[in-house]
Amino acid sequence: MADVPTRSPLAPRRTVHAGDGVAWLESASLPADHAIVTSLPDASELPALGPEGWRSWFVEAAERACRAVADEAVAIFYQTDVKRDGRWVDKAFLVQLAAERAGSGLLWHKIVCRVAPGTTTFGRPAYAHLLCVSRGLRLLPGQSSPDVLPVPGAMTWPRAMPLEACAAAARFLLAHTRCRAVVDPFCGLGSMLAVANAHGLDAIGVELSRQRAERARALALPAA
Ligand SMILES: C[S@@+](CC[C@H](N)C(=O)[O-])C[C@H]1O[C@@H](n2cnc3c(N)ncnc32)[C@H](O)[C@@H]1O
Repeated sequence: MADVPTRSPLAPRRTVHAGDGVAWLESASLPADHAIVTSLPDASELPALGPEGWRSWFVEAAERACRAVADEAVAIFYQTDVKRDGRWVDKAFLVQLAAERAGSGLLWHKIVCRVAPGTTTFGRPAYAHLLCVSRGLRLLPGQSSPDVLPVPGAMTWPRAMPLEACAAAARFLLAHTRCRAVVDPFCGLGSMLAVANAHGLDAIGVELSRQRAERARALALPAA
């Protein structure tokens, strides 16, 4: 795996590995100041697995992500449901199944509006899930933040985690955890890594596609 830090030691660091995020998670036992923030690939990105194979893969990979973080750290997942054969595949349910297997509990579940509320959509829903789980961390009522993100923000590509969802995750880490580094084992073009860096957090990504990994090393956010 390539291991290329792309920032000066004084700025928040970004390292992107080109490789298999699941294999990386298998070997990972992250320090307490590392959180996972990620978006696992949809079945359409892993066609060789078939729908049932993808479901097992998804739950196992999410379970590994939940287990990889330290007790007081968190794993955050951004997932969009899909409709298959006229039925919804609820990825929030799959993440919670994985979390339960890992002994983690749900700290919050936010809805990210992908289009304006009230809009009818076909195939993919108008919302996405942003879920945060932890084995040891608990939140007091005063540590709440909005449950609904009305505007998703820009997306670097159609499968990207929207920038407002990335920013909500980064703000939560800074305000309510000791996590000061973000790990995204399925980092795509690196939206979460770039937003983490913009918030002063170090970032580590893993991406199967060498081309995307290369772009994730260099991704700069659009000017606000
Ligand atoms: C939903 S996209 C993530 C998008 C990313 N959050 C962004 O904003 O660009 C899932 C990514 O996982 C990658 N992927 C699929 N299988 C993988 C694996 N086993 N290990 C690492 N990356 C993988 C895909 O190439 C794709 O870029």
